[in-house]
Order: sequence, then structure tokens, then C-alpha cells
Amino acid sequence: MANLFEVRGLKKYFPVGTNLQFVNLKMFHFQMKQRVFTKEEEWVRAVDGVSFKVDDREVFGLVGESGCGKTTIGRLIVKLMEPTEGDIYLDGKNIVKLSKNELKDFRKNVGMIFQDPYDSLNPRFTILESVKEPLDIHRIGEREDRIKKVVSILKEVGLNPEKSFLKRYPHELSGGQRQRVAIARTLIVNPKMVIADEPCSMLDVSIRAETMKMMIKLKEEFGLSILYITHDISEARNVTDSMAVMYLGKIVESGRTDDIIENPSHPYSKALISVVPDIDPDIKRGKIELLGGVPSSSNIPKGCRFNPRCPYAMDICREKEPDYIRVEKDHIASCHLL
Ligand SMILES: Nc1ncnc2c1ncn2[C@@H]1O[C@H](COP(=O)(O)OP(=O)(O)O)[C@@H](O)[C@H]1O
Ligand SMILES: [Mg+2]
Repeated sequence: MANLFEVRGLKKYFPVGTNLQFVNLKMFHFQMKQRVFTKEEEWVRAVDGVSFKVDDREVFGLVGESGCGKTTIGRLIVKLMEPTEGDIYLDGKNIVKLSKNELKDFRKNVGMIFQDPYDSLNPRFTILESVKEPLDIHRIGEREDRIKKVVSILKEVGLNPEKSFLKRYPHELSGGQRQRVAIARTLIVNPKMVIADEPCSMLDVSIRAETMKMMIKLKEEFGLSILYITHDISEARNVTDSMAVMYLGKIVESGRTDDIIENPSHPYSKALISVVPDIDPDIKRGKIELLGGVPSSSNIPKGCRFNPRCPYAMDICREKEPDYIRVEKDHIASCHLL
């Protein structure tokens, strides 16, 4: 399968104010007694060198605890912000620097579904207006046909009877229905790729499974690729073909989803998998308990960033950042134990 999409060495650092520091000033031929302030900037390293590829029609998962940089990656990809470093390719074209016209075309090809559907729906727009708007912006189809297209996509996302939704407003719908409308709005321009950022996590547990199923059905019908972001590894197991497990701004393990679930190689992936209720006990191979909580992204531990929480940490883990090791075909992990 062809790589539709690729991210290489992606970084996003946010400044978090400045830190005043005393230093000795050496001037002329003597050491000055007084000390002066210099400014040393502090950074949140939200995304700290991330690379992955998504195949045509693949669902690729980004998995990890809250704060590890998943949403920032999604926002960088849809160009809601600029990366500090790194490149993003769609169909072989670097999209980090695009002209205005290219950007418009790019926005048609890469859509985003947010955790909260209100982030993509204007509360003052009817469902018809919201879903039709992308067709108007991109001048797709004849005016009369656009309404027909809205009706047909509302049907595709399972809103039934579809015509009864046209004149309603987002607040008149349930959370699940609103997310379906947001999905319809994203898909109506036929994108090649969709970034879905925790699309089910705000939904009632009872409707999560059917919403996920609907997304996978639409992926097949529309021939899409999906970057599926979730903090829940069992959700990723159900919907993704491949995935990357992230920890504090970096990928610690990536590969085919089945390979990672059945043969997790990084202690962090093992720990996440060991708390999934319905996984074969043989696979869990004893529960791994994480030590402590997630450190701040503005104070990333030296060496392997996972070392303070790792039950197997050795001296080298506190000194040297591990390289990626190939565990099996298309399956890599970064851990000194390997
Ligand atoms: N605009 C911002 N300014 C400063 N820090 C930010 C900003 N956006 C995100 N962060 C920080 O970056 C890190 C990653 O955040 P995020 O990408 O939202 O993680 P996730 O989606 O995995 O929960 C967090 O420490 C968060 O506080
Ligand atoms: Mg997030």
C-alpha cells in the first residue's frame, strides 16, 4: 500500500515564560563580584521528534495518556499551528509551507473531527447550514444539488429520518447526534484523510461502539485514511490497523495494532495493555504497575523519558535516550532492555 501521509521529526515547543538566573560576569581582567540576571527561556516540549506513516485507507492510532502531545500533533497536521521543526507530507508533498491556494485545497483534503462537536459546529447555524457550508466555501457542485448532498450524507452518518434534522440547531440534538453531524460536515467534501481526536470520549458509553463502527464503515465507503487519536488503548485495538504509543511527546512503540497488543515490547505499552479488561491473560504476562504520575512536558527526565516510572529502569536508562529497535517487521520500540 502507498503511504498517503507521513510525518518526519515533528516538534512543537511552547514557551512557558522565562526563568531568571544568576551568573558570574567576567569583565576586563577581573571577576566582577556582583551577579546579573540573564534570561533562560523554558519550554514545554509538547511534541518532541515524532515520525510515522499512514497508508492509503489505513486507520492509524495515536495512543497515550493525557498530556503526551496527541492533540498538538493533530492540530499541527491540520495547520491550526506551525511546527517548531519537522515536515509533514501528504501524497509526497510537504505541506508545512503552502501558498494560499494550496492551503485551501489542503483543507479540503484533510479534515478534523474534534472531541467536542461544538468545536466544529456553529451553535447559531442550522444543521443544514453547518453541513452545507464546506460545499459553499469550496464551491463544490451546483447550489440546488448541495442540499441534496447534505440530505444524503446525513443518511450516511445514520441520522434518521435525515430530513427532520435540516432545520434543527445543534443544542436540540443529543451528543451522539451532534458528533454525527460534525462527521458529516467533515466528510461532505470527500477528504483523503481525517484526523479524529478522541471522537468518542465525550459520548455516552452506550453509543461509543456504534459510533466507532459507523466511522469504520464510512472509512471503507469514502476510501479514507484516519488518524485516530485516543487515550484508551482498548479503543485503539478495536478501530485501528496500526498504532503508535506515545509518552511525553515521543513515540515509544509503533507497529501493526495486533502485533503490539499481542507482543508489546516497551514497558509502557505493556503497562497500558495489562489494564485492558478483555485481553487474554497470557498476553498480559503479569501486571506492570507504573510508578508515580506523568512528569510535566516542561521538565522531561534525562535519558529515557519513561525511566522514573519504569519498574525495570537501569543506570543507562537515566543517562542515555534509547534508539528505536526493530522488534519485527514494521514494529519498532525504543527501550534499552531490547
Ligand atoms: N498552546 C499551548 N501552550 C502551552 N502548552 C501547551 C499548549 N497546548 C498544549 N500544551 C501542552 O502540551 C502538552 C501536550 O498537550 P496535548 O497535545 O493537548 O496532549 P494530549 O492531547 O495527548 O492530552 C501538555 O503538557 C499541554 O499542557
Ligand atoms: Mg488531547
